[in-house]
Amino acid sequence: MNDQEKRSELLNYLHEMQNSHPQQYLTEEVLNSAAQKYGLTKAEIYGVASYYSMFSLKPRGKYIIRICQSPVCQMMGSQSLTEFLENKLRLVAGETTSDGIFTLEHTECLGRCGKAPSMMVNKDVFTELTQEKLESLIEKLKTEAK
Ligand code: FES
Repeated sequence: MNDQEKRSELLNYLHEMQNSHPQQYLTEEVLNSAAQKYGLTKAEIYGVASYYSMFSLKPRGKYIIRICQSPVCQMMGSQSLTEFLENKLRLVAGETTSDGIFTLEHTECLGRCGKAPSMMVNKDVFTELTQEKLESLIEKLKTEAK
């Protein structure tokens, strides 16, 4: 296996492990097992995991909200929607609510610029966002989380 294949396999492995954890993050145990499995040091694994924004090294909520911060969404108001969510969820981007339901993150372009502003909640994409849409989505997800 060449270095590129090894890296690609490692990324797949980390993805799988993160997705299978209920709090959607990479635990110490996973970092250790990845180091062993791929013959790398833990520092090297840590370097990979912290380089990619899709990986998290701390526990996250049931719903990970990723608001697009790329230029088109920025122009269409993604910053004020982020602030709206920060106030509503009482956190700042990068944090998780104390009840463990929501994590708010930033993301790069989701490829839905034509319907900006856009965001993802876990694997679902939402477009043409407004405060009203966010408000009702958050309430719906809160109910579903119970
Ligand atoms: S800039 Fe936000 S989806 Fe493309």
